[in-house]
Amino acid sequence: MDAVRFVQISDTHILRDYGKAKLCFLDSSPHNPPQILRVVLKNIAGKKDKPDFVIFSGDLVHEGDSEDYALFRRIVDETLAGIPAFFALGNHDCKEAYYQGFLREPARPSYYSVELRGLRIIVLDSAMEKNPAGSGFIDETQLAWLRGELGRKNGLGSILVLHHPPCDELKAGILPYCLKNSLALKDILKGSDVRAIFSGHTHENSVSIFAGVPQFTTGSTAFGVSIDEHDMCFTNQYTYNEALINGEGLYVHEEIFSADLKILARVSLADLMKTMEGVNP
Ligand SMILES: [Fe+2]
Repeated sequence: MDAVRFVQISDTHILRDYGKAKLCFLDSSPHNPPQILRVVLKNIAGKKDKPDFVIFSGDLVHEGDSEDYALFRRIVDETLAGIPAFFALGNHDCKEAYYQGFLREPARPSYYSVELRGLRIIVLDSAMEKNPAGSGFIDETQLAWLRGELGRKNGLGSILVLHHPPCDELKAGILPYCLKNSLALKDILKGSDVRAIFSGHTHENSVSIFAGVPQFTTGSTAFGVSIDEHDMCFTNQYTYNEALINGEGLYVHEEIFSADLKILARVSLADLMKTMEGVNP
C-alpha cells in the first residue's frame, strides 16, 4: 500500500480586517494572511502527488467572528477542491463563531477522531480554558475519551493533532506556552499506537520526542515568530509541514513559503542525477 501523504497547516490567523487587531502590520500586501493561505493551499492541491488530507492545528482565525470563519471556509473550499481537511482549535479561536461561520451547525465537542486509509487522525481541543498566557489545557472528560479511543489499536496507528505542543522537563522554560497538563497526556500515550503528534502555537518549526512519540510543530501561514534575548519578532517567513507515513516509517518535511523568496538557480533533476552519477561512479 502506498504511504499516506498529508500536510499540516497551522496558525492561519484569518481576519477580514487586521486594522482592528494588534496584528495591523499584516494588513498589507503581500503580507496578507488570507491571500497567503489561498496561494499555499492552491499550490498544495495542484501538486501531482496530492495529499490524502490536510490538518490545521489551530488559531484558524485571529479572535474573529463568524464572518471571519466564513471567509476561512471559502478559502479552504475554493482551494482544496475536495481534499479532506480536519481542524483543531487554538487559543485565538472562538468556538461559537467557529460553529456558526465554519461548520454551520450547533456546537458539539471539538475533539474527534476519523480514520482515513488505515490511519486514525485524532483531533484534540487544547483551547478549552481561556487564559492570558494562552497556554493549553485538556480536561478530564476529553482525556477519558482519548484513553477509551486509544484502547483500540488501529491498522497504521494514529496521529494526534492539537494546537498546544505537549512538553516535558526539557522545555520547562516555555511551559507557560505549552499544554499545561502535558503529564496527564504523557501517561495516556505510553504504549498507545500514536505514531506522531502535530501541533502549532509557537509559529516555529521544531521536532521533539514526547512520551516516546515524535512531535512536530510547524510555523504559521500568517506570520513567523523569532525570539531573541529581549524581543519577540514577527517575520514574513511562512512554513508548513508535508508528511508521509506507512507501516514502517514517518517522514516530515518543512516547506517554506516567502513572498521574498529568491530562486538563485534552477537545475533539472535529470541533469542533477547525471552529475551525481558522475561524482559517485
Ligand atoms: Fe498562533
